[in-house]
Order: sequence, then C-alpha cells, then structure tokens
Amino acid sequence: MLRNLIILTFGGLALARPGLEKRASEIPAIPTKPPRGSEPGAAPTRVSDTVTRTTTHGPYSGTATTTGQEVGPTTLLTKNDGPPAAPTGNYYNKNGDMEAPFQLPFVPGGGKGVNGSHLPRYMVESDFDYASVSLGLHQEYIELDLFNHGVARFSEQDFLDAGLTAEDRTFLQFMATQEADHATLLTNMLGESAPKQCVYDYPFTTVREYIDFNVKLTRWGESGTWGFLSHLDSREVSTLLVQAEAVEARQQQIFRQWLGLPPMPVAFVPGIPQSWHWTLLAPYISYCPENNTRIPWQNFPQLNIRNLPNPNRVSPNDTKTDEVVGPRVADPSQSNLTDTESCVQNSTLGYDCSPAVAHNRSEPLTFPGRKLFLSWDEPGKAVGPNNSYITTTTAGEPKFVAWLSQINLTYTPLEITGQNEGWTWQPPNEVYQNNPAVNETVFLAVTDTDLYLTPFNLTLINPHVKALGILIAG
Ligand SMILES: *[C@@H]1O[C@H](CO)[C@@H](O)[C@H](O)[C@H]1NC(C)=O
Ligand SMILES: *[C@@H]1O[C@H](CO)[C@@H](O)[C@H](O)[C@H]1NC(C)=O
Ligand SMILES: *[C@@H]1O[C@H](CO)[C@@H](O)[C@H](O)[C@H]1NC(C)=O
Ligand SMILES: *[C@@H]1O[C@H](CO)[C@@H](O)[C@H](O)[C@H]1NC(C)=O
Ligand SMILES: *[C@@H]1O[C@H](CO)[C@@H](O)[C@H](O)[C@H]1NC(C)=O
Ligand SMILES: *[C@@H]1O[C@H](CO)[C@@H](O)[C@H](O)[C@H]1NC(C)=O
Ligand SMILES: *[C@@H]1O[C@H](CO)[C@@H](O)[C@H](O)[C@H]1NC(C)=O
Ligand SMILES: *[C@@H]1O[C@H](CO)[C@@H](O)[C@H](O)[C@H]1NC(C)=O
Ligand SMILES: *[C@@H]1O[C@H](CO)[C@@H](O)[C@H](O)[C@H]1NC(C)=O
Ligand SMILES: *[C@@H]1O[C@H](CO)[C@@H](O)[C@H](O)[C@H]1NC(C)=O
Repeated sequence: MLRNLIILTFGGLALARPGLEKRASEIPAIPTKPPRGSEPGAAPTRVSDTVTRTTTHGPYSGTATTTGQEVGPTTLLTKNDGPPAAPTGNYYNKNGDMEAPFQLPFVPGGGKGVNGSHLPRYMVESDFDYASVSLGLHQEYIELDLFNHGVARFSEQDFLDAGLTAEDRTFLQFMATQEADHATLLTNMLGESAPKQCVYDYPFTTVREYIDFNVKLTRWGESGTWGFLSHLDSREVSTLLVQAEAVEARQQQIFRQWLGLPPMPVAFVPGIPQSWHWTLLAPYISYCPENNTRIPWQNFPQLNIRNLPNPNRVSPNDTKTDEVVGPRVADPSQSNLTDTESCVQNSTLGYDCSPAVAHNRSEPLTFPGRKLFLSWDEPGKAVGPNNSYITTTTAGEPKFVAWLSQINLTYTPLEITGQNEGWTWQPPNEVYQNNPAVNETVFLAVTDTDLYLTPFNLTLINPHVKALGILIAG
C-alpha cells in the first residue's frame, strides 16, 4: 500500500514538469492499414454511412397505397393446440461412452455441418427464414436510427444532467455503427429485395425517457431474435445472427444500467414469436420507402398496463395511472417528476437510480401479488409503416394473462371489470428454486386459454392472443 502511494506521488510530480513527461516505450511493429477498394482482402461497404446529421422523424399523415400482411398462396391450419406427437429424439447417454464412429479425429458422431460435407451458404433458406430476417433487419435499422438520433437530439449537457458523461454519449454513437454492421449483414442474407431503412416516430422528449424506450426496444429486438433462431432452416444464418445478437444483448444491459436498474436480475432472457416482435415494433415505424417488401407477421391489438411502474420514481408504488408519455404500447414513463419524487438525484443507497454498473432498489418496481390494471384495444387499428398494417386477433373471450419471462410462461386469471378492461396480479412462480420467474422484461398477453407451452413451441399461442404488451418488472 505504502509503495503504491509513493509511486503515485512521483508520477504526479513528473507530469507537472514540462519536458519530463513519462513517454510510453516503442515496441516492434510494422506500419500497416486495412486493404480497401480492389485490394485483396478489402472489406465490403456498409449499407449505411456514419450519420452525423439530424434525420427526419415524426408521424405519417398520408394514405397507404396497400394494406394488410403479405400472405402465402394458402394457409394449411388455423391453429394447432396439440396434443403433440411423441418426441422425435430418443438419444440418451447413460455412461458417457462414445458409441458412434468419429467423423474426423476428435469429432464425435452427430452434429450438423462439422465434417466438411456441407458447403456453408450464408443466405436464408425458406420463406420462414426470409420473413424472420426481414423483421430482424427492420429492428437493426430502427436501432441504427435511434442511437444516432439520441446523439443528434440530446447535447453533452443533456447527458450530464441525466448522470451520463460525454464518453457515454460517444459510446452511444459507436453503438449506432454496430447497427450499421448488423444491417449490412442481414441485408446480405436476404439479397436484393431486402427492406431498406424507414422513417421513425419516437415518443421521448428527455434523456431518461429515451433510455427507458431503448431498454424496451432493444429487449424486444433481442428476444425477437432468440425466439426464431433455432427454428430457422439455415444454420449458417443462425450462426451469424447469434454473433450479432451477443452484442445487441450487451447494448440492452447497458441501457438498463443507464436507467439505474439492476443490470441483469435474471438467469435467462425470453424468446418471443415474430408476431410479438412485429406488434411491438410496428407502431414506431412511420413510413417506409416505395416498394419496401411487406411483413407477413401478425399485429395484435395493444395491451395497456395502466399502472406501469415508473423507474424514475423513488417509490414506484406511487406511480399514477397512465404515467407514460404517450398512447403507444412501449411509450416510456414520464420523467418530469419533482426532486423528492425522482430517484435520479437521490444519492441514498437503495434509492439512487442514476446511471451505474449496478444498483440495489430498496423499493422494487413490482413484486409478487402486485395488482396489474389492464385495458386493451379492439382489433382493426391501422399501425406500422404508412399505417398500412391492421391489428387482428382470432382469440375468443379473454380469460387469462400470460406472463412470458426468463424461460417460463405463467398464466394468471384475468378478472374482467368492464369493456376491454380488467386486472390480474404478478405471479410468484420460480424458474428454479430461489429464482423468481418474473423479473426484468416481461411480455404480457391477454389470452382465451392457458395452453401449456414451452420455449420451443411458444408460437402456438398466437391464435389465442387477444392483446399484447410489455412490462419492466423487478
Ligand atoms: C409444447 O411442448 C410441451 C413440451 O415441452 C408439451 O408438453 C406441450 O403439450 C406442447 N404444447 C402444444 C400445444 O403442443
Ligand atoms: C457429415 O455430417 C452430415 C450432417 O451435417 C451427415 O449427414 C453425414 O452423415 C456426415 N458424414 C460422415 C462421414 O460422418
Ligand atoms: C409510404 O409512404 C412513403 C412516403 O410517402 C411512400 O414513398 C411509399 O410509397 C408509401 N408506401 C406504401 C406501402 O404506401
Ligand atoms: C417500385 O416498383 C415499380 C414497379 O416495379 C418501379 O416502376 C419503381 O421504379 C419502383 N420504385 C423504386 C423507388 O424502386
Ligand atoms: C408497496 O405496496 C406493497 C403492497 O401493498 C406493500 O407491501 C409495500 O410495503 C409498499 N412499499 C412501500 C415502500 O411502502
Ligand atoms: C409531465 O409530462 C407529461 C407528458 O409527458 C404531461 O402530461 C404532464 O402534465 C407533465 N407533468 C408535469 C408535472 O409537468
Ligand atoms: C431518497 O429517498 C428516500 C425515500 O424517500 C429518502 O428517505 C432519502 O432521504 C432520499 N435521499 C436523498 C438524498 O434525497
Ligand atoms: C443489495 O441487496 C441485497 C439483496 O437484497 C443485499 O443482500 C445487499 O446487502 C444489498 N447491497 C447493499 C450494498 O446494500
Ligand atoms: C420453467 O421452465 C423450465 C424449462 O422449461 C422448466 O424446467 C421449469 O419447470 C419451469 N418452471 C415452472 C415453475 O414452470
Ligand atoms: C428482481 O431482481 C432484483 C435485483 O436482483 C431484486 O432486488 C428483486 O427482488 C427481484 N424481484 C423479484 C420479484 O424477485
């Protein structure tokens, strides 16, 4: 300890005297730069250059030239509630012995694409793949725009006022370049008909609201990808998407940290069906370029959580009804609270919600047993690019609320209190003992049944979904 102190003191003295600064050593190196243009090994260009200006945003006021989802020539089944066939797999290894011939040295039998018999092709292999990656590309493009827009819209001082530094703002700018790379990758997997970047309509007016919106938007982007990855026909596409999604997941966690929330109070992140992803994303896409390809996934009616806990509050219990900045499904909580109500300037441990690597919250956002007051829209509303998609549902009478969090789907009964409104309560279930299932982001659906589903057959829920929403629990 004493030795460290002495070294520090000498360092400080040396710096204070011009001409005596400690210079770093020169080490062996070759002057080099990346190959460009027609040079061998040159990298392809990105679909989007680095944006350094403000771009157009706002609602769409025109009339759509076409409406509704892209559909196939026919639809084979309206729903499939099981019972499912017996499992197709039966491999079971009771002693750890390798029984099948090795394919290559140190390569046990099994697996796909590991013995050189398969030439990798990094392109979508089916309509399912195409539509999934198109949706993913819309997500990459809105993130690209949203991160750039955060830098353009909010000044260094705005960031400082929200407890973030100029370095954090520069880091946000870098996240936008990650999105340009992801958009380029996904465009290449689709080919010439890949969707192009659209114009977006955002709900926030302050840095806190911006971050709150980012927490939700990046979570549904991440969960949307986890939901379809293992169902893709192309394992090559899946491989690269995982490698992109690993970075998106880090972005999501960083936005939670910037909002002063526990960074990852869960052991698993849920995967959602594509139609859930599209339902949450579409309201924020204002309009798309002429001829942009259309999306086949469903848009469900919106589920409103009337008492969504406000993460800016010292006491989330005190959140008022509809304390959000606008009417759309993932609009952020209001940040214009009084100094005593707001946790941003509160420096007391357990209450401080300024940006940090990790915070404890003495008063949680939500807790098991907490009542949740809900209302939901009728179908038939125009949403999404050019207001050209229409919300639909095939569900019967609403009876349950499905809570999708971590790797579990839990149903609670829905108590109806009026036309399109009711309440339920947060379930106490655990994933494994001592890991409460409901924490962090929860996807909530009002359903007509409590069909038993697990992560790999979750999409069978869609014909039963009356309305869909998103909740930050914790
Ligand atoms: C979903 O998968 C689980 C097995 O993990 C099975 O028990 C359940 O019946 C399946 N649900 C439907 C509707 O097929
Ligand atoms: C090589 O792997 C493929 C699956 O990717 C499999 O069908 C084939 O039987 C394997 N060949 C050998 C020699 O193991
Ligand atoms: C959406 O609006 C844009 C801008 O007005 C227009 O160029 C495009 O063709 C429209 N697309 C549809 C599907 O109507
Ligand atoms: C859209 O498609 C039409 C018909 O193929 C074509 O004439 C038009 O140039 C396309 N517009 C754009 C912006 O690509
Ligand atoms: C929030 O409400 C719950 C349920 O009524 C209660 O148990 C808890 O003590 C409240 N929190 C605070 C800080 O008062
Ligand atoms: C806070 O902002 C909301 C809009 O986001 C507005 O409706 C409300 O009146 C504002 N409250 C205060 C106290 O300024
Ligand atoms: C933070 O909020 C708590 C709970 O209201 C309060 O007891 C504490 O005094 C506040 N701390 C500061 C520094 O305002
Ligand atoms: C944070 O919360 C945990 C669990 O409630 C508690 O054990 C821990 O002591 C808290 N940490 C601090 C620094 O207060
Ligand atoms: C949560 O999901 C896991 C994995 O599917 C399962 O093993 C566990 O039983 C589920 N927990 C509950 C409470 O349903
Ligand atoms: C959610 O996680 C946070 C952070 O670990 C913890 O303080 C809180 O009690 C958890 N909520 C529930 C319902 O378990």
